[in-house]
Amino acid sequence: MRRKLVAGNWKMHGMRSHLREIEAIAAAARAHPQVDALLCVPYTLIAAAADIAPDFTIGAQDVHENDQGAHTGDISAPMLVEAGAKVVIVGHSERRADHAETSHHTWAKAAAARRHGLNVILCCGETEAEHDAGRAERIVQSQIEKSLPDGASPDWLTIAYEPRWAIGTGKTPTLDEIATMHAILRAKLRGMIGPSANEMRILYGGSVSGANAASILAVDDVDGALVGGASLTAAKFVPIIEAAAQIAMAD
Ligand code: PGA
Repeated sequence: MRRKLVAGNWKMHGMRSHLREIEAIAAAARAHPQVDALLCVPYTLIAAAADIAPDFTIGAQDVHENDQGAHTGDISAPMLVEAGAKVVIVGHSERRADHAETSHHTWAKAAAARRHGLNVILCCGETEAEHDAGRAERIVQSQIEKSLPDGASPDWLTIAYEPRWAIGTGKTPTLDEIATMHAILRAKLRGMIGPSANEMRILYGGSVSGANAASILAVDDVDGALVGGASLTAAKFVPIIEAAAQIAMAD
């Protein structure tokens, strides 16, 4: 039985003045113990967020593959752990696009995170051009082939399917398209890691909101959501946690 996970990604948003949103989101998560919730905040907020909400999971949005060294501007897994992060996103399409990260980088980052006990949310997803050319399935399968870390296990790894064209655009695939891609991902994972793939959570991400969460989260093989814009305030994020909790209670 896979518990639903509602994960927020604050991207390059959030100042100390927004910590009260984290407190409110943590309180909502506490009120809905049927589901898991977490927030991946900017590095500068990790320690403060972990301090004000000690029972709530705080994560980061990227990690370097090395533990230390001459890598100006980067951050390592031990640093994230020391700051209070419990989870990290790797392979987000904005990292791939803005920083030329490849699936090989994603693989190495996931391995580094795991070495230091961080849970990992590994992202995949096709561009609009790839989608329109009918190449989405092949692209996503190849991203998983190249980036799935050694020893991948549902105990610490979650997959997020995020079509790039759906991120921050208000556009989403149809529910059938989401179901098809998640089934393909599940089959791919089964081929790579065997039956434990049945326990691995596969999140959908891309323009998830309070308005569409209930229908998306009810799709087969959708085990939660990775939420950007709608995770920035409790007012927008809590309804998504509530939608997940309702589905969990009905199951
Ligand atoms: P969005 O972003 O919810 O703002 O579309 C999702 C993501 O990039 O994780």
